[in-house]
Amino acid sequence: MKPCPSGRINHQLRAVLSSKEEKEETHFFWYSRKMREEETAMAAAKSKILIFGATGYLGKYMVKASRALGHPTSVYVRPITPSKAELVHEFESMEVEVFQGHLDEHEKLVSVIKQVDVVISALAVPQHLDQLKIIDAIKEASNIKRFVPSEYGNEVDRIHALPPFERLLENKRKVRRATEAAGIPYTFVSANSFSAYFVDFILHPHEKKEEVTIFGDGKAKAVLNYEEDVAAYTVMAANDPRTLNRLIIYRPPGNIVTQLDLVSSWEKKTGRTLNKTHIPEEEIIKLSETLPHPDNIPLAVIHNIFVKGDQMSFDLGEDDLEASALYPDYDYTSVDRLLDICTVKPPQTKLAAFA
Ligand SMILES: NC(=O)c1ccc[n+]([C@@H]2O[C@H](COP(=O)([O-])OP(=O)(O)OC[C@H]3O[C@@H](n4cnc5c(N)ncnc54)[C@H](OP(=O)(O)O)[C@@H]3O)[C@@H](O)[C@H]2O)c1
Repeated sequence: MKPCPSGRINHQLRAVLSSKEEKEETHFFWYSRKMREEETAMAAAKSKILIFGATGYLGKYMVKASRALGHPTSVYVRPITPSKAELVHEFESMEVEVFQGHLDEHEKLVSVIKQVDVVISALAVPQHLDQLKIIDAIKEASNIKRFVPSEYGNEVDRIHALPPFERLLENKRKVRRATEAAGIPYTFVSANSFSAYFVDFILHPHEKKEEVTIFGDGKAKAVLNYEEDVAAYTVMAANDPRTLNRLIIYRPPGNIVTQLDLVSSWEKKTGRTLNKTHIPEEEIIKLSETLPHPDNIPLAVIHNIFVKGDQMSFDLGEDDLEASALYPDYDYTSVDRLLDICTVKPPQTKLAAFA
């Protein structure tokens, strides 16, 4: 991750270590102490971030990004079960403070929120409306400088989808409107699609499949952003005065691709020709109408992103904030680079929970 203050300090420390033979031991310890002081001072100046949904797929990236960017970080998680013990131990080893509780424990929520500056939610889709409880607690605590609700997808105020997906978009709109009505300082994030997640879904790099399914004609443009970058952009935006009470859209130029682009790049990189099966648009629409809930949701999502091409259905105007333009020094992982990574070691992904 690029703009990492502790990385800079580590770099300085390495520089000191490499010339150590020429220096007195006392000189080296003086440098180390100065650096520790600088690191402590920088951490003190950083906002304190509380993350919801931290044990989840995106949440884990969010915790890492928050720590890598030097923020004192805490998480609010449901009571820890044995299956989560190792992850919680990992958080603690990263100096992440762990608060345990439920979202309907209002007094506890308020008291935890009072201890931080910024709240970032990465709660799962079925819990989107539960964020109204977080909004109530933030309103009562009245100290929060920024709230980022869990969205990380399409720009919900500018697109419309087939009914099963539209219902999820409507929940995100409700959370946006409730945040605004409560007068809470916010940043709304449209992260478009997660690249590791959708590359895995379309190309199956783990299984090295010879078959690929192409939805519609495969020519609609989508935006695929690497999960690590989604988290880093979000933590930067949550602390940026330019994004106060604004929407930020993640649309880096190197991440705009069609399904056909993905397939042809993958064929070139792996030296394999894939057998392509097209599912026509009408069939996808029909399946979204006939499959039972929640199986109908992924079809409606695929239709919106990869057939209708809604992520690229509107131009960004001068008034829009785009992540790669706002943070030009941040070295995001382009789709092309992610495919290179996938030829060696594809990232582990987890399908989103819809119900
Ligand atoms: N654009 C894309 O391509 C894309 C892809 C996937 C997800 N997303 C978005 O990313 C966000 C996070 O999704 P995710 O897949 O990372 O979520 P996830 O892993 O399914 O779950 C995130 C967290 O939600 C909390 N949670 C789950 N069930 C709960 C319950 N019954 N009550 C309270 N909390 C519960 C859990 O946190 P604790 O156990 O710690 O409390 C869980 O770790 C969502 O807004 C989703 O829409 C976007």
